[in-house]
Amino acid sequence: MNPIALAHRLRHSERLAPVRRHLPLAATVAGVASTRREPRRGLVLLTLGGLGFVRTWRRSRELGRAATAEHIARMRRLRRDVVQRFYTTCIGSMEAELEEYPEYDRRKHELRYRLVSELATAHVPAGGVVVDVGCASGLVLDAVHRARHSRGVGFDLAPYGVRQRAHRPDPPVLAQAVVEHIPLPDGVADVVVFSEVIEHLLDAYAGLREVSRITRGGGVVILTTNNGSEMPVISPLRDPLTWFERLAGRWRPRWLAFRNLTWHDPIDRRVDPLPPDAPTYVPHIHFCFAELRDLAADAGFRLLSSSSFEFPAPQSPLADRLRRLTSRAPRLGNATADLLEGLVSVTPGLSLMGAHHLLVLRKVAPPRPRPSTPWWPAHLHDGLPTDGFRPRASSPASRR
Ligand SMILES: C[S@@+](CC[C@H](N)C(=O)[O-])C[C@H]1O[C@@H](n2cnc3c(N)ncnc32)[C@H](O)[C@@H]1O
Repeated sequence: MNPIALAHRLRHSERLAPVRRHLPLAATVAGVASTRREPRRGLVLLTLGGLGFVRTWRRSRELGRAATAEHIARMRRLRRDVVQRFYTTCIGSMEAELEEYPEYDRRKHELRYRLVSELATAHVPAGGVVVDVGCASGLVLDAVHRARHSRGVGFDLAPYGVRQRAHRPDPPVLAQAVVEHIPLPDGVADVVVFSEVIEHLLDAYAGLREVSRITRGGGVVILTTNNGSEMPVISPLRDPLTWFERLAGRWRPRWLAFRNLTWHDPIDRRVDPLPPDAPTYVPHIHFCFAELRDLAADAGFRLLSSSSFEFPAPQSPLADRLRRLTSRAPRLGNATADLLEGLVSVTPGLSLMGAHHLLVLRKVAPPRPRPSTPWWPAHLHDGLPTDGFRPRASSPASRR
């Protein structure tokens, strides 16, 4: 076939799309293979491959920036009363939610509960006090109590899990309260569990400051939350530069084109006063490590250790394949998922790119009233300026 006609066919054919997407990879591999025998040809192929990768990356960044702009617009529409109404009327019990998940996702949640419970158990003295902030129905408290006879207290804004749990005679004690105003005295907790909650707060620092207030000096906080540097959904064979960008974003948040700030679906229409074409999305901020580290330091914590877990990203095609495999052949699917989780968690670089952070913090000082660098998503709601705000220019993250 005529090479020009072939090039056009390659460019326009849907069937050849997978070939087209992997041309930069093919050129790079061919370039590496030829460098010894034909260095000039090798160099040309490597250059073409590199340019192809840069082109894909630029496209990913464009899409990422557009998605971030949409998330920022959603943050600006947020109203505290609407978010609170959503949590107090629309959230069911965690157990019921887990029941509905496919086996693959349920096991990933169980992994988190296991990791958090084991760490809380390791840090609480026998008979000590564990407070679970945003506890849902208190599953972590149950596990720690079984292991250490700890005294467990949990709070959640959503009343459903709390009420359901209150019917049981055994510990823990659960109550309805907001993280921003925890009804407990200063320094009462040996261990605070703060798992998958900070990303939902309108002001993350206000929550962290309260967590610090109730933690005794030398006490420990186990914090998990979504990771802004989680593995991208696009394959590293197609877009390795986006993978590097995500990893670098761990320490340099401003380098990230895409920032996930809100939940992917709008809240229930019945509790949303906003028009259907611009509805409310609750906050679901994927934090970068540097942001959490700095907020925690301002709240009076020293970082004892950090890691990440849940590989691959739950919305990735690979996770979908594992989900399907697990539903068809549970033992094989579970074994494959566990093997992958284990392998990635010991692979340098990749091990930092799990879907969730896991931080262990020790209380070493009283919290500052405000974070030392104003933290930009906190400024995207509740009547703050709606004009001229540019996260890249005015973000403290961008100064790090
Ligand atoms: C993803 S769930 C995590 C629940 C629990 N920590 C766990 O690990 O299963 C987030 C929880 O945070 C609660 N939450 C959200 N905003 C809150 C706030 N301002 N104060 C207290 N709880 C809050 C929600 O009601 C929900 O139960």
